[in-house]
Amino acid sequence: MSPPSSKSHKPLLRALAGDAAQIPPIWLMRQAGRYLPEYRKIRRSVPGFLDLCFTPELAIEVTLQPIRRFAFDAAILFSDILVVPHALGQKVWFEEGHGPRLEPIRSVEDLSRLSLDNLHERLSPVYETLTGLRSELPASVTLIGFAGAPWTVASYMIEGGSSRDFLAAKTWAYRDPAGFARLIDLLVAATADYLIEQAHRGAEVLQIFESWAGVWPEADLRRWSLDPCKAIIDRVRAAHPTVPVIVFPRGAGPLYQAYAEQSGAWALGLDSQVPLAWAREALGASVVLQGNLDPVLLRAGGPLLTERTAAILEAFDGQPFIFNLGHGILPDTPIAHVETLIELVRS
Ligand code: CP3
Repeated sequence: MSPPSSKSHKPLLRALAGDAAQIPPIWLMRQAGRYLPEYRKIRRSVPGFLDLCFTPELAIEVTLQPIRRFAFDAAILFSDILVVPHALGQKVWFEEGHGPRLEPIRSVEDLSRLSLDNLHERLSPVYETLTGLRSELPASVTLIGFAGAPWTVASYMIEGGSSRDFLAAKTWAYRDPAGFARLIDLLVAATADYLIEQAHRGAEVLQIFESWAGVWPEADLRRWSLDPCKAIIDRVRAAHPTVPVIVFPRGAGPLYQAYAEQSGAWALGLDSQVPLAWAREALGASVVLQGNLDPVLLRAGGPLLTERTAAILEAFDGQPFIFNLGHGILPDTPIAHVETLIELVRS
C-alpha cells in the first residue's frame, strides 16, 4: 500500500514512509509491563488491571516508563485489546495468575448483551491518555495506538479468556457462520470507530493485533481475519489517509503474503517463525516490515541474541524496516538484555 507522503523527523514515521535508514527504528511489543519494576509498582497501586488502563494519569506514566528507560523510537498506548469488549458491554476482568476473564458470549442470542451505543463514552479515558501523551512525548518519539483484530478479540469474548484450542469460537464459526459473522461485523464497526478516534486524539500510527491468525485454515483465515482487517483499514484510511496501519497477523505463515497484498496495511509485524529472506522477497515490495526477534531469545540472552539480532538487521538492510520482537516481551525478561538489544541495533 502506498506510504504516507509527508517526510517526518521521527525515525518510525520515516521508516513507514519508505525510508531505508542506516539504523532502523526500534520498539518492542508489550514494552510497558511486568518486566519493569517501575511498572509493577504502579500496578500494585490499583486494584485491577483495567483500572490502570482507565486512569489516564497512570496509563500515561506507564506508557512513558520504557521511553525514559530505553529511548525507544515509539511509545505504544498503554491499554489492552479487551477494552473493546468491555466498551461493548461485556463483563471483563483480570485475575492474578489467570489472565483475562470474560463472561462468555456463545450464541447469537448473547449478542443482544452487546451494543455500540456507549463505545466512545466508555473508552474516553483511553482517548484522554492519548491526548495527554501527545504533549509529553519527546519530539522524536512516535505515538502508536492499537486495537485487537476482530477474530482475536472475538476468541476471548467467546472462550471467556485465553484458550489453547479455540474450540468454542471455531465451532461457532463452522456451525453458524452467519451468526458468527454478526459478532465479527460488530467488532469491525467498533474497532474502526475506536481506531479512527485514537487517530483524532493523537495516535500517529495504528497497530492491529491479530495474535491468533495461526489457528485457521486458509479460507477461514481470509473470511474471519483478512477481510475484517481490510474492512477496518478501509474505514481508517478514509478518515485518516496519512495514518499508517501496521497489521500483526501472528502465525499466518505463507498467508502473510495475502495480508501484504490485500489488507491495505502499510506495514506488517512478522512473528519469529517467518523466514527472513522469504519476507524480504515475498513481502518487502508491498509493505514495510517489522519484527521479528524471538522474545524467548531476548529473555535467554547470550551470544545467540547477538548473532540473531545481526541476522535480522542484515536481512532487511537497504529496505525500510522497524526492529521489534516476534511477539510481546516476556514478564521475566532481564532489563540488561533489553539494553543489550538496543545497543546492538543502534551500533
Ligand atoms: O506496552 C504495550 O505493548 C502496550 C500495552 C498492551 C497490553 N496488552 C498490556 C497488558 C498491549 C498492546 C496489549 C495487547 C494484547 N492484550 C494482546 C495482543 C498482543 C499479544 O500479546 O498477543 C492480547 C492477546 C491481550 C490480552 C491480554 N491482556 C492477555 C492474554 C493478558 C494476560 C497475559 C499477561 O501477560 O498477563 C493481558 C494482560 C496485560 N495486558 C498485561 C499488560 C501489561 C499484564 C497484566 C498485569 O500487569 O497485571
